[in-house]
This record gives sequence, C-alpha cells and structure tokens, in this order.
Amino acid sequence: MTSRRSPKQQIEELREQLHRHNYRYYVLSDPLVSDAEYDRLLRRLIELEADHPEFVTDDSPTQKVGAAPQTGFDVIKREKPMLSLENAMDREEFVEWSERLVREVGEEGRTDFVCEPKIDGVAVELLYRDGALVQAATRGDGTNGEVVTENARTVRAIPLRLRGENPPAYLNVRGEVYMHKKDFDELNRRQEEAGEKVYANPRNLTAGSLKQLDPKITASRHLRFAAYGFGGAEGVEIESQWQFLEAVREWGLPCSPHAGRCKDIDAVIRFYERVLEERGDIPLEIDGIVVKVNAFTLQEKAGFRARSPKWAVAWKFPSQEERTRILDIDVQVGRTGTLTPVARLQPVKVGGVTVSNATLHNEDEIKKKGVLIGDWVFVRRAGDVIPEVVAPIPDLRDGNEKPFRMPKKCPVCRTLVVRVEGEAATRCPNVECDAQVKERIRHFASREALDIEGLGEKLVVQLVDHKLLRNAADIYDLTLESLLPLERMAEKSAENLITNIKESKETTLPRLIFALGIRNVGITVAETLAAHYATIDELVRAKQEEIAGIYGVGPVIAAEIARFFADPRNRRVMKRLAESGIRGRAVALVSSKELQGKTFVFTGTMVRVSREQAEAEVKKRGGKAVKSVSSKTTYVVAGEKAGAKLARAEKLGVEVIDEEAFLRILGEEQ
Ligand code: IVH
Repeated sequence: MTSRRSPKQQIEELREQLHRHNYRYYVLSDPLVSDAEYDRLLRRLIELEADHPEFVTDDSPTQKVGAAPQTGFDVIKREKPMLSLENAMDREEFVEWSERLVREVGEEGRTDFVCEPKIDGVAVELLYRDGALVQAATRGDGTNGEVVTENARTVRAIPLRLRGENPPAYLNVRGEVYMHKKDFDELNRRQEEAGEKVYANPRNLTAGSLKQLDPKITASRHLRFAAYGFGGAEGVEIESQWQFLEAVREWGLPCSPHAGRCKDIDAVIRFYERVLEERGDIPLEIDGIVVKVNAFTLQEKAGFRARSPKWAVAWKFPSQEERTRILDIDVQVGRTGTLTPVARLQPVKVGGVTVSNATLHNEDEIKKKGVLIGDWVFVRRAGDVIPEVVAPIPDLRDGNEKPFRMPKKCPVCRTLVVRVEGEAATRCPNVECDAQVKERIRHFASREALDIEGLGEKLVVQLVDHKLLRNAADIYDLTLESLLPLERMAEKSAENLITNIKESKETTLPRLIFALGIRNVGITVAETLAAHYATIDELVRAKQEEIAGIYGVGPVIAAEIARFFADPRNRRVMKRLAESGIRGRAVALVSSKELQGKTFVFTGTMVRVSREQAEAEVKKRGGKAVKSVSSKTTYVVAGEKAGAKLARAEKLGVEVIDEEAFLRILGEEQ
C-alpha cells in the first residue's frame, strides 16, 4: 500500500485485508499473517479512521473494539425456540437412540449423519439482514433470550458482514461462543494475579464475558464462535445440515473444523472414537459429539419431543470429574507473592491421569465453595487445564473436617501477609522472600522463557538455598567451580548446564520480555509488545500511556510494566543481563515459506519440544499442522506412545518420522 492512494482507498484496502485475515484465521484455520502483523494493520486502520471519521462504517474491523458501556440487556421472545439435546451417556444409549429413530421414521432412518463436537460454551443466535449482523441473543431458557449484540460484535470470529456478493436477505444462525483452553488459562492466571474473580471453566468465563455491561471487556476476552444450527433464511435453499455447514463457511462464519459426515451408524461410532482419542489435542473443551440426521426433510419427519429434537443426540464423553478426598490444604507462594491454597488429594485417576494436587485459587474461592480439610470432593481435570476442586460432597462428612485458615504470615519468610481490600489475593509483600526469588528464577529459565535446560525447579531451590542465586542475572555468573560442590551435581551435568546457560543468551525478544516475570505479562502479551518495540531498551523507555494504547495490552498491564521498570532492583538486574550479552533478538513477523505446502500431524509425546512449540515452528515456516492423518499429510511425527494416528499413517502410506528427524527438518541445532 502506498501513501499515494487516497485515505478512503487505503481504508477500504485495509478493511478488505483484515476481513480476509479474519476469514483465513477463524474459518479456514489457515492464517496468512502473524497476530502481530494483524494488529499492525488494525492499528493503521484505527489511525486512518481517526483522521477521517467520515469513512468509518458500521462493519469496519475497528468496530470490534467495543462500544460504550450499557446499562442492561433487552430480552427477546422467540417464535422458534432454541432447543436442547437429549443425552446418550454411552454407546448402548447411542445405539438405542438410533434404533428408536428407525422405529419412528422407518427404514429411512438408516440414513447418513453429520457429527460435530459438542462444544462446551454458550449458545447464541445471530441474525443477519442483507448481510449485516443486526442482532445476537443468548439462548436463555430457549424462548426468552438476552440481546447481547454489542458484545457479540467484539468477537473476531463473528463477521459484522457476511462474505460474498449475494448474501441472503435474512439469515438466522445458531452456534456456540466459546474459548480456547489456553486463552482461558491465561486469563484466569491474570485474574488470579490481579486478585479478581477466577472462573471454574472456559464455559463460565465465556458466559461471564458475554454478559459484561462494558463491551470493551468482552473484546479483551478472546472469544470464538462456531456455527452449528440453521434457524432459517430467505433467499437461499438449504436442504441438509452438511450443506448448511458448507454454506456458513462461504458466508465467512466459522464452524467446527472437526465436523464430519458419516454414512451410517458404524461410521458415527468410529467418528466418536476418533474424536475421543484426539480430545486432548483439540484446543477447546468438548464434552461429547452431537449426531444429527443430515437431510432436513428427514429431520422434519422425525420431529420433536418437548424440548429436544428426535433427529439429534448428544453422545457424551466419559467424565473428566472424579471423587476423592482432601487430605490437607497447603499454601504456595508464587512469583509475585500471591499465596495460593493447594489441596493435597488422595491420588485419583481423572481422565487417565493421576491427580494428587488441585488448586483452590484463593481464600474467597474456598469459602464460596464451602470446602473443608478432610472433605470428599469432586475434582475436575480438563485437558491441559490445571486440576481443580469443583465442590465438596457434604453428605459424606463425618464431623472431623476442619475449616481452612489463610496463614497470617508468609509460610516461607514469615513476613506478615497483606490482603488488599477488594482483591481476592493474599500476598507476601516481601519481594526478597525466598519463594518469590525461586519462582522468578524458575520462570526465567522455563521452557517458554529463556529455556535453560537443566535449570529446573529442584536445582533452582538448591542454588537459592546455597546463596548462589538471588536473581536471574546471577545465573550468568555461575561457573563449574561454583556448581560442582553441590549435592548430586555430576561433572557432566554441570558442564551441560554451563553450556545451556551460555546458549540461552541467544534468546528472542518475546521470550526475554516474558522471562522478566512482570505481573500479567504472559507469552501472548510479550509477543504483542515485541511486535511494537524493536529492542528491550525501547520498551523500557516507552511511555506508560503509549503501552496502554496497544491493542491487547491495556492500562492495567501498562501500569504493571511501568512499575516493574521503575524499580531500581529490576533495573540493576536488567543492566547486568545486558552486560552478559543478552539482548533479545527481534523475530521475523511475516512467516518464511520453507515448509509451504507441507502438512504435519503430531502424535505421541515429544521430549525436546512441546507439541505447541512444534506446531508453531511449522506454521512459522509456512507449513500446516493439523490434527488428523489423511492421504494429503506429508509427515506424521511420532513421539513416544504414539497411537492410532501412527497406525493410520502406516495404512495410508504416509511418511512417519521421529522427533529427531523433525528437528532436523526445522534446521535447528537443538
Ligand atoms: S445442536 C436442536 N450442535 O449443546 C439442536 N448444540 O444441549 C440444538 N452445543 O444449547 C443444539 N455444540 O449450546 C448443537 N454442535 C452442536 C453443539 C451444541 C454445543 C450445545 C448448545 C445447546 C446444547 C444442547
């Protein structure tokens, strides 16, 4: 884009580009640019529109940042209620459902089905007139829903205007607003750090975000959308669920990339098993699959029960919640001094993994849930989400249970703890507290930060206890001589550690920013900051108001950053890091194309990189990382305990490589 173009042309082009990027990202799951590049384009558009308000339109991507706060939500009454679904809890119940269908509609009931993951979010209905989003309303009780249009407008995956030249005159689409587990974790961590309400699961957080009176808060919540239901249209003919899913994608509305068409009941059963196996790899929470008769004529013939259709069923996955006992409640001190109560549990298997600790977040949460030490409780573990105590089972109490009390003194340094009024978090104010020192250093060396292999939690504790480390800069003063006298420190591991420490100096800017451990600055925020400032010094010198204005950062985080850099102790550490040669190299924002056209599927556990990292590296090089194996897959990367995907690759004759070979392809000397 050149500046010779008129501002109007530039604005229109930018809008086109941003619409296209949203479509590539949310509908095709195949982005063309990095998030940082997207933000840059958006910022440019915001600036241009600010200078030329006469060109602002209602469907500009800038209108997604959130309108003025509202005072409440209107309620609408639907003629065609949004229904719920009958559940099948196991295979037997599912087969029963399918047999009942055949009994009721005859042999025609042996038909084809569309299967979609059952997304655990919040059901919303969107209305488009002449291609423009005019209303969004929650399901509510099915008939009465709340109008949340202003909030839905901030969801990037919900287009303000449908794609294409001839959108239908009227379109009613139903779907689920939801959140990725990773975004949920990061937001909850921020809420916890800031002493604000933590949410039990992504669904609650989504519901809470959609019901914010201030749409700007909704805008900051990384909500997503997947369409699954056709509520009617004018100007188009749609005859089946599958045709509907194809049409919505054309209109620019995302639907689940995991939806599939199954020719009969056996195919549905295979679909269920495959999704169940891949559940952990799917970035959102799903609690089962929804099976729907494909043809609309047959759906009509099957009809409805009171509140649910007979042509669809939710076949649930086995529970991720189990019962166990709280043996005790300990208190952990985090990097920023927050005291977190942690339940020590009688070990229990949840979703195939043994859980023996679960977070209780803070004092208020314990009170709210009414949990006592010694209680039988439900614990929940969902994918990568940290296990947590859901609720006690009061009927199983025997009178020996005891209430938990937050200690008055920090369990590590004995400083009196503080609880700021209005905040849920209790903190140890002593920044020199050993617990904080250890956590800060551990964070600095962690995988997503400077990634110093060998400098894990145990060793950090040992080094701090031996007074060899007090802050991150001290790591670079460690020598073989200082390490060797430590207990259980072999010469070889000491040598390796020194090498790894040296190599960690070649880090990237986002990693370095993240590593500093500034409150509320997670990896995503660090990446955003690195996209704006070429060097760490630029960030240090940046004005607080300027940082606050960055899309995705905001005033609260900007204040934390300013506070961090104003502290002379932090400045000293940063100066020493710079003297050790740690600069944080800028990373290329536009992806290279080395792996263009190549598709990777990862299965099993990798040792040297996490699956997320591996996928990110592939995407950075222009390749694709997908979840299921097909004949189009270029490589299946098999880690330890690789399962069904490996078998499928072999069946299809797809090349299988191991982790080492994969790293060689990336060209990284790991
Ligand atoms: S179809 C008439 N499809 O599940 C059919 N629902 O228990 C109505 N849900 O309120 C729903 N994923 O919030 C359908 N792929 C999917 C779904 C889905 C999640 C939710 C939805 C609905 C609830 C019904």
